[in-house]
Amino acid sequence: MEELSQVKQQIKTFVADCGDARSLELLELLAEGKMLRSKLILKIAGITTQSIELCAVVEMIHAASLLHDDVIDEADTRRGKPSINALFDNKTSIMFGDILYSKAFTQLSQMDKEIAYTVSNAVTLLSIGELHDVELTNTFNSSYKKYLDMIDKKTASLIEASAKTAAILVNKDKEAFALYGKNLGLAFQMVDDILDITQDSATLGKPAMLDFVEGKVTIPYLLLHERLEDKQALEKLYKKDLSVDETSWIKQKMKETQALEDSIKLAQKLGLEAIEAIKDENNEDLQNIMKAMIEREF
Ligand code: FPP
Ligand code: MG
Repeated sequence: MEELSQVKQQIKTFVADCGDARSLELLELLAEGKMLRSKLILKIAGITTQSIELCAVVEMIHAASLLHDDVIDEADTRRGKPSINALFDNKTSIMFGDILYSKAFTQLSQMDKEIAYTVSNAVTLLSIGELHDVELTNTFNSSYKKYLDMIDKKTASLIEASAKTAAILVNKDKEAFALYGKNLGLAFQMVDDILDITQDSATLGKPAMLDFVEGKVTIPYLLLHERLEDKQALEKLYKKDLSVDETSWIKQKMKETQALEDSIKLAQKLGLEAIEAIKDENNEDLQNIMKAMIEREF
């Protein structure tokens, strides 16, 4: 996508504006992502100076949140490359995150008031979502409501804000696009949670089946726990370094109870609800974004 390189260039320009060579160096070391939020914005709002700037702001906020998240999660890799905290240290990752985040907000303050409000409010939700995510790893969480609320804030909020603000830019139905973004975001996180179980570490770019070891009771585990007669058998493995046998036991039980299959169905249902929200908009590309995301290899 040619327009995504315009977004990357805009991010470089914004960081160069900060007047600090080290920040530009660190920017070069960030692994490239899928730029889902930019794809959404550009599909909804088209390619203009304003939409490219909005993409850059959202991507910088997203990158900042990941720089902080990798410190919080003590992650060594990000998208298959060494993370900044692994390459240097936690301090560098946090401070570079702060720079990207602050510069993004400086740019946001120059934009339309409703856009600035929507994006900045999403970042508050994102931060609350991260707090809840971490706190939910203290003890085994068996509440679907808490899980859903957490992924809504941690992941869906910024995707929702991206779709909504793109619609605001071009006077489209902002509420419909917000709902599209929210459901897409929820489905996106659920797909991520499923891939943690179904894919190998080479494909994931990080160790496989790490979520449960880290204390995250994601959707497939929630359904499995609900359906197991011997719930303790699963609870005993919580936050443990899993042996090969334990890993296969979990996978086997997920098959038997259809916890995995139903998690996939739930993500697909949310995906369909996303499409339903914008059915009047006739935007095939947006439907394809959703489909491509849902159909990532399970
Ligand atoms: C990745 O989750 C983390 C997020 C989507 C949000 C992180 C948010 C913060 C750290 C709040 C601070 C925000 C700013 C802007 C500084 P994950 O750990 O489940 O996914 P992963 O496997 O990709 O790490
Ligand atoms: Mg993480």
